[in-house]
Amino acid sequence: MIIGFIGFGKVSRNLSRLIKSDDISFATSFEGRSPKDVSENIEVLDTFRQVAEKSDILISANSPKSALDVAKKYGKYAKGIYLDLNNISPDTTCEIANYASRFVDGAIIGKIDSDKPVLYISGKYADDLLFLDEFIKTRKISNKIGDAAILKMLRSTYTKTLSAVLIESSEIAKDNGLEKEFFEALSLTEGDEFKDKAISRITNTLNNSKRKSEELEEIIDYFDGEDLTMVKAALEKLNR
Ligand SMILES: NC(=O)c1ccc[n+]([C@@H]2O[C@H](COP(=O)([O-])OP(=O)(O)OC[C@H]3O[C@@H](n4cnc5c(N)ncnc54)[C@H](OP(=O)(O)O)[C@@H]3O)[C@@H](O)[C@H]2O)c1
Repeated sequence: MIIGFIGFGKVSRNLSRLIKSDDISFATSFEGRSPKDVSENIEVLDTFRQVAEKSDILISANSPKSALDVAKKYGKYAKGIYLDLNNISPDTTCEIANYASRFVDGAIIGKIDSDKPVLYISGKYADDLLFLDEFIKTRKISNKIGDAAILKMLRSTYTKTLSAVLIESSEIAKDNGLEKEFFEALSLTEGDEFKDKAISRITNTLNNSKRKSEELEEIIDYFDGEDLTMVKAALEKLNR
């Protein structure tokens, strides 16, 4: 079996590292892209079209902005499964599904460079990917395209809003000279790793506040009609 990648960055590199089987080889291309070092089990072809044609499973992991364009260009050449792993909205996911006959909606949850990310998949062809569970925890959500993307968005709804609350409360703790005690007190109920995780979340949010704001805007847009009081407050906070 050949797994092909359109886009060979952190996600694809890590998947090719985790999926270790004598029966599986990998292919990608750097057509029009900056070339990268690849390990010897990855064949580098001249064009992405060749990658699409040759692959039993074609994985699109490039960027949220290029995901639709990539599907329009190469989806028609994919005879096997087309798995999209880009962080895109459920609406874009459903649009992309029109360009590949055996489309699977996918979302990687957890740090991609960790050894234990979880792959959530949805769509009627998702069953064909359940064998991946041997290499990376793989969970089928439903037969509905868009469900994996919605789940990822729901997770972001929680984590990004929580980050805004963390930033606010830790700043108040700092102003009162109680930052250390604040994290210690929370660790009592939230667990020993809470402080490190909270600080990493705060730093990540502050360093990427523009992207995080855009993602919150997407959430507000997509879940229009739901009660989004907390998400809207988090957006206001990040925009300041
Ligand atoms: N990193 C994560 O934890 C994570 C988790 C879940 C989902 N995702 C999603 O997965 C996708 C890939 O993420 P990543 O972290 O692997 O990104 P990355 O490290 O930035 O790598 C992206 C790769 O895709 C290539 N690329 C970009 N546009 C392309 C196009 N139009 N055609 C072909 N190749 C293209 C880039 O080439 P150049 O270097 O030449 O630009 C690069 O090799 C993104 O959509 C991201 O939202 C990421």
